[in-house]
Amino acid sequence: RSNAGDDGNPRDFVAKMKAGKKRLVIFYGSQTGTAEEYAIRLAKEAKSKFGLTSLVCDPEEYDFDNLDEIPEDCAAFFVMATYGEGEPTDNAVQLMSNLTDESFEFSKGAHRLDGLKYVVFGLGNRTYEHYNLIGRQVDAKLTEMGAIRIGERGEGDDDKSMEEDYLEWKDGMWDAFATAMGVEEGQGGDTADFAVSEIEKVVPEKVYLGELSARALTRTKGIHDAKNPYPAPVSVARELFQDTVDRNCVHIELSTEGSGITYQHGDHVGVWPTNAELEVERLLCALGLWDKKDQVINIESLDPALAKVPFPVPTTYATVLRHYIDISALAGRQMLGTFAKFAPTPEAEAYMKNLNTDKELYQKTVVGGSLRVGEVLQLAAGNDLLTPPTKENTTAWSIPFDIIVSSITRLQPRYYSISSSPKLNPNSIHVTCVVLKWQSVANDKVGTKWIYGVGSNFLLNLKYAANGETAPLVTNDTTGNAVLPTYAIEGPRGMYKAETIYKTPIHVRRSTFRLPTNPKSPVIMIGPGTGVAPFRGFVQERVALARRSIEKNGPDALADWGSITLFYGCRKSTEDFLYKEEWPQYKEELKGKFIMHNAFSREPPYKPDGSKIYVQDLIWQEKDAVADAILNGKGYVYICGDAKNMSKAVEDVLSRILGEAKGGSAEVEGTAELKLLKERSRLLLDVWS
Ligand code: 2AM
Repeated sequence: RSNAGDDGNPRDFVAKMKAGKKRLVIFYGSQTGTAEEYAIRLAKEAKSKFGLTSLVCDPEEYDFDNLDEIPEDCAAFFVMATYGEGEPTDNAVQLMSNLTDESFEFSKGAHRLDGLKYVVFGLGNRTYEHYNLIGRQVDAKLTEMGAIRIGERGEGDDDKSMEEDYLEWKDGMWDAFATAMGVEEGQGGDTADFAVSEIEKVVPEKVYLGELSARALTRTKGIHDAKNPYPAPVSVARELFQDTVDRNCVHIELSTEGSGITYQHGDHVGVWPTNAELEVERLLCALGLWDKKDQVINIESLDPALAKVPFPVPTTYATVLRHYIDISALAGRQMLGTFAKFAPTPEAEAYMKNLNTDKELYQKTVVGGSLRVGEVLQLAAGNDLLTPPTKENTTAWSIPFDIIVSSITRLQPRYYSISSSPKLNPNSIHVTCVVLKWQSVANDKVGTKWIYGVGSNFLLNLKYAANGETAPLVTNDTTGNAVLPTYAIEGPRGMYKAETIYKTPIHVRRSTFRLPTNPKSPVIMIGPGTGVAPFRGFVQERVALARRSIEKNGPDALADWGSITLFYGCRKSTEDFLYKEEWPQYKEELKGKFIMHNAFSREPPYKPDGSKIYVQDLIWQEKDAVADAILNGKGYVYICGDAKNMSKAVEDVLSRILGEAKGGSAEVEGTAELKLLKERSRLLLDVWS
């Protein structure tokens, strides 16, 4: 064991539980913080329901060899996200390998956990093949080792209904928990997590106005990661669609010069967005904080083991809403119940309670109408949602700010597949981002309205700002309430604007989506729409290698290289063809080794029956070359883009091709071949839903 200090071993969670009289230990496998938030919520509920305190643990910080020493009157919770293609999150790798490695012995000298009481909640996404694999594995392993599960295993689906799945599961689990632990409800009580205080004497330079790490103001150096993002200047920002009547796709180059940030082709970049100013103002008004929006506040955690202050302080009310918490998300059913107590009128209170308890009503009103928390508060108080919010037309609720901070989750970074290669662009990271906006389902209270994706619209606004353009106003069809939300990208103290350069906080997330090192291996890339992003990076990577090889070995240096083939799809060659002007140059430099097949779905040719031609149809047309590259050339296949339909359709066509080439069927030989390719990391996916 490492890190042993004077106060015993800090990696010994059992000792910590005993010292703190904690009867629950809650481990979370979390990549972006969601599982951690659920872990904390479970801890809080255990306290408010039963008066039991918990140790909430990042598994990376502890050893597991004494998992079998958890006292009998205690229980272990596992809140485990499944990441990527059925992998554990980075912080749960060690835990998973200890649990699954049969030769790993716990302190009593065997791979047994007899009698350990445990709870599992898994977080996954149904669009991916290995839905909730990690939660299921933990459950199966613990049971196999003699541990006893309390209640049912919970599973949340991030694609649809994470919050609802959690709410549905937890009540039954707590009932089973009470029985298993011999405890009764009502022994706890609501306790605050944070103390918020307004402070007067403070040096302005010490107030956080959107900076994401404490280091940002103290100017201490350190590596840039998710906990310490780098404010990257935007060096280039331009539109990629040729026709932008109602769609945008932005190309943004983020300068990393002098930051120490490195990346590889295929990596992801996390970009920290800002909430739309319209929503910030709405919530400031609804919370009665409009006049105090720039008041400096300090926030302290009353129980740091349970709830860390999720952003740097001191800060201001407006900053918290603008930069730190996710006020743009759908208002959660549970928080509406919490806020009901602070309603301005009995009617508003009843309205909130109804939304909290009547799932159908909640579904129809909040989910159907895509309502954010500020909008629900306005609606409950009978305010008109269609006029821009002001303190005059918006009823003020008396929700204490500490409750806002503990009820609304942190604003998360948005991850984009990097569309450049560091070999051609060592000092910048390119992002290719289609701007998301959609209309909500019509609703009797607010009609239909436009919803703007937070991350992509923030980037679009950065583009406008960086180029000195004004964002066009978008008028709505039925309600007239839709204007393009403005973003406070000219953030205070140059967080977002320094002189004339806009900045945005970023960090790089490593991936395994990489070209084979040997350029002789053929490569097949499938990336319609913005799925092409990483492949622009791949092709650039090969171009850089080609330049070097040719310089060293002369013009024939690429003769024995494998082909690198891109299947790309978009609507029209004249509308949304991404990086249209760049591909011919790459082709030329790669001397015919780069082949591009384009499926323009909304222009001729169409299929004989009139239906659209998609990338999977072109793959089928090229089936002999595809089968040859994979089976004889030991080629690599990459799919990037939509996880729901496209990637499944592409996998289907690949199994048909491989099945046929093997003289068998798609279902048997084809599927087996695909599985093998995946196991050997020769079929790699970077897909999203
Ligand atoms: P469509 O919008 O004309 O249907 C990028 O979005 C491209 O992917 C568009 O040409 C789009 O076509 C196409 N696309 C839509 N659904 C698809 C699917 N299931 N498989 C492959 N491509 C698809």
